[in-house]
Amino acid sequence: MNAAIRAVVRQADALGSEVIGIRHGFQGLVNRDWRPLPSRACANILQRGGTILHTARCEAFRDPDLRAKAAEDLRAAGIEALVIIGGDGSFTGAELLNRFDGIKCAGIPGTIDNDLPGTERTLGFDTALNTAVEAIDRIRDTASSHERLFLVEVMGRRSGMLAVHTAIACGAEAVLFPESEEDNYEALVQQLKSNWNRGKLSSIVVVAEGDQSSGASNLIGGGAAFSVGERLKKEHNLDLRVVVLGHIQRGGSPTALDRIWGSRWGCEAVNRLLAGETAFYLGTHAGEMVARPLSYVLESRPEPPKELSGMVRVLSR
Ligand code: F6P
Repeated sequence: MNAAIRAVVRQADALGSEVIGIRHGFQGLVNRDWRPLPSRACANILQRGGTILHTARCEAFRDPDLRAKAAEDLRAAGIEALVIIGGDGSFTGAELLNRFDGIKCAGIPGTIDNDLPGTERTLGFDTALNTAVEAIDRIRDTASSHERLFLVEVMGRRSGMLAVHTAIACGAEAVLFPESEEDNYEALVQQLKSNWNRGKLSSIVVVAEGDQSSGASNLIGGGAAFSVGERLKKEHNLDLRVVVLGHIQRGGSPTALDRIWGSRWGCEAVNRLLAGETAFYLGTHAGEMVARPLSYVLESRPEPPKELSGMVRVLSR
């Protein structure tokens, strides 16, 4: 996200516009928590994770009166357009602010879940993926030395994108994720049995935090791997360990790909806003830059490619 902020500021600066940084997302907009963001304020942020503007979820922004007041405050401060980095909630708020309150808005996709319609990539996904893979490579050493089963939980409250891509990249024996159409738990048990029968004694199973294989609802975030682990222990008396990677995946220095797309989208957002466009969010399709209307965010969320989830078991034979 810092790469995108830096690009917005510097591209605007190059084209003679000033950028104001709004802290804490829509909450900061409501509280007028903003200040000028000069080019030099973006020095040395490209390699830093998180966002220098901080962020917050803001349920109150659903209130039309509050949005109208925020729009009035923006106009009074001479702020002509917003660039919003976020996911479906942020883009929905931006769409309403544009449609009902006439504020020009551009969206840059930012969520480690990579589950926004209309783009094959979102900021943070590649970094989170590489972090998870690096962590699991380390866990693999204990798994294979001790001939143990590990359940490793990655983020994804509603989405298995991170889990499935992680599973392929770390050679996991199985992956459990919310969108799966098969009975995840039974398929996992069969897979583990067939591994043992073939003399494969260590396994890594990647579990998306929103997976519900254990029958427990994990919608408050986290814990799916523990629930599955408990069930396996109780029903099959397995010696297993659970690792929850948690917020480790949301931090750290961004990968080159995340930095490059953050920079590209930041520049493009400014160019389009200055050319008079509004109510769009940027993305990528087949490696090319694309723009979608903000309302496109309501289309169905992309699911992990079946081709990939189907490969996990085959490749870990
Ligand atoms: O919204 C995306 C996400 O990365 C989920 O996968 C994860 O459950 C959640 O954010 C974590 O957010 P928080 O830090 O607010 O619990």
